[in-house]
Amino acid sequence: MALRVLEKRSALLARRCEELRTARVVVGAAIVRDGRLLAQQRSYPESHAGQWELPGGRVEPGEKPADALVRECVEELGATIVVGEHIGPDVPLKKDMVLRIFAAELADGEPEALEHNAVRWLTAGELAGLDWLPADRVLVPALQQLLN
Ligand code: C5P
Repeated sequence: MALRVLEKRSALLARRCEELRTARVVVGAAIVRDGRLLAQQRSYPESHAGQWELPGGRVEPGEKPADALVRECVEELGATIVVGEHIGPDVPLKKDMVLRIFAAELADGEPEALEHNAVRWLTAGELAGLDWLPADRVLVPALQQLLN
């Protein structure tokens, strides 16, 4: 009986690992300037309106993650970034997607909320208290480390 349960759990785990291996990547930018991190406040869908996230979005088929991140930041913020190192763990999202965050710096333009409610520059001390999207919240310790 115990062996049956273990086999079942092992099969579930294997399936979950495969789902994560083949998951579509959503990229996010941890843009830092003068010791502060840029966050943006979502206006949609209704369930997430008002919550905060890092700028970013889905990597299109055939697109490199860094290129997707630059594209998304131009669309969402009207600013060009330089993409740096991958930080923190990949965080599972719904529908076989994972959120992957990269450190970034501004190269050109002043970020504006073109598709969101607002943008805000946060100190390390403000990160934990913000109403983040669930996946972005998982990354708060890695973001604090990036700022400190
Ligand atoms: O912005 P977009 O709708 O393309 O994002 C795809 C998915 O990734 C959404 O479910 C969104 O909530 C999620 N996401 C996230 N954190 C981010 C960016 C996107 O959880 N920083």
